[in-house]
Amino acid sequence: KRPPASILFIFGGSGDLNYRKLTPALYNLFLDEWMPDNFAIAGIGRSSYSNEEYHGHLLDGITKFSRRKGEQNGHWKDFSQHVSYLQMDGDDAAAYHKITDLVKEKEAEWGQHPNVIFYLAVAPQLVPSIATKLGALNLCSDVHCTRIVVEKPFGHDLKSAHELNALLSSMFKEEQIFRIDHYLGKETVQNILALRFANALFEPIWNRNYIDHIQITAAESVGLEGRGGYFENSGALRDMVQNHILQILCMVAMEAPVSFDANEIRNKKVDVLNAIRRITPDKVGEHAVRGQYSKGWKKGEEVVGYREEKGVNPESAIDTFAAAKFYIDNWRWQGVPIYVRTGKYLNQKATHITLQFKSAPHNAFPSESADTWHSNKLTISIQPEMDISIRFQVKRPGQTMTLDPVDMTFSYDTEADHAPEAYETLLLDAMEGDATLFMRGDQVEAAWKVIMPILEHWESHKPADFPNYTPDSWGPEAADKLIAQEGHTWINVP
Ligand code: BG6
Repeated sequence: KRPPASILFIFGGSGDLNYRKLTPALYNLFLDEWMPDNFAIAGIGRSSYSNEEYHGHLLDGITKFSRRKGEQNGHWKDFSQHVSYLQMDGDDAAAYHKITDLVKEKEAEWGQHPNVIFYLAVAPQLVPSIATKLGALNLCSDVHCTRIVVEKPFGHDLKSAHELNALLSSMFKEEQIFRIDHYLGKETVQNILALRFANALFEPIWNRNYIDHIQITAAESVGLEGRGGYFENSGALRDMVQNHILQILCMVAMEAPVSFDANEIRNKKVDVLNAIRRITPDKVGEHAVRGQYSKGWKKGEEVVGYREEKGVNPESAIDTFAAAKFYIDNWRWQGVPIYVRTGKYLNQKATHITLQFKSAPHNAFPSESADTWHSNKLTISIQPEMDISIRFQVKRPGQTMTLDPVDMTFSYDTEADHAPEAYETLLLDAMEGDATLFMRGDQVEAAWKVIMPILEHWESHKPADFPNYTPDSWGPEAADKLIAQEGHTWINVP
């Protein structure tokens, strides 16, 4: 069923996120016949574009970044008729009548009151000012039809996230606020819930009795991609761990929900965040590692070090790599280390979760037959491969009792062309008003609480060894030492 009539106002309409992700996602929804019968999209920005120029710019983004490129048999023309550009400065309260004018115009044209969705794809410092002006439009009192989508990063730390939540909730009800984390829209991330809670097979062993440790890797092979200015105010821990990685961790570790109600799922996730053991300042060194890339070679090309990137302080202490060890203090997970890591310019793009099971309680096989330590593991690959794989031991055919590990794999890859992109799923949910895959205010703050001790420690102790890893590696040596403390090693390629 298609969502009801909707108008999307995209602040940051001339920006990179809209160009690479949002418009391609909306166009794919259109091609798949998911867009409402009546819809309008208005890109808002300060740059000057005629509608025609704006369409050309967006089509260029689709040609470069969409899962379906270019025109698609004239469908682009149909789609672009729904798209307009509003040149306005988000700081100029007097310009906001352009928004109400468009809503009124569409209301009259369609003969119905549409959903109005404000998508804030703008730098975080602009969010409070835009949100305040939107709040002042009398459109926003309509709880069921008006929504605001706020991109990450949501705040810069716990305090600013708390303030932003307070500001937003002074103008919007919680059910109108959609805090986006695009990882939650990824097919394989959503599949974690199906795997865990639609099968009776896994849940009985999904706990400290059977699981030795968990690893979550979100490695990127790209560098800064021109985002030096943003990254200097962020760093890998803020950019990836506070949101994407902790959200994945919640899906892996949460208790079974009673229903798929948005608040039920989010309650279960927030329980996980609240149960993550706080890292005390004296233990940050044992629990977290930061890294920054040097100059080096990436795919045969020479690349500059982080400190030489455009927009970056030549003495920058910002992390382009972060790894941490967490514990969840509850019945299910007590004592099970959860290792997470992420970084720019790593050896490969690879996002995956591994649950390493304990070894068999007794090894009756000849000692030379196999290394049983790593025998049982379950891996959920999120990207670029999209699969779920279970490793177990089998006997190698032949006259000796020699064991070999084999993988049983379910792969989404053959379906990949049809799999919607994360932003498609999330934009559709926003139009439908389903907040299940969006973060609630308390969840975002709980996630900040988890990383604040690390952030504070890093900010008050300058790194002595930066840069400490080369492009194309798997990050600093200290990350290997972090996981080795309990005899574990990172799984780079599952
Ligand atoms: C974004 C981060 O949220 O996620 C980027 O700001 C990062 O730095 C990106 O590159 C990774 O997303 P994906 O979907 O390519 O894994």
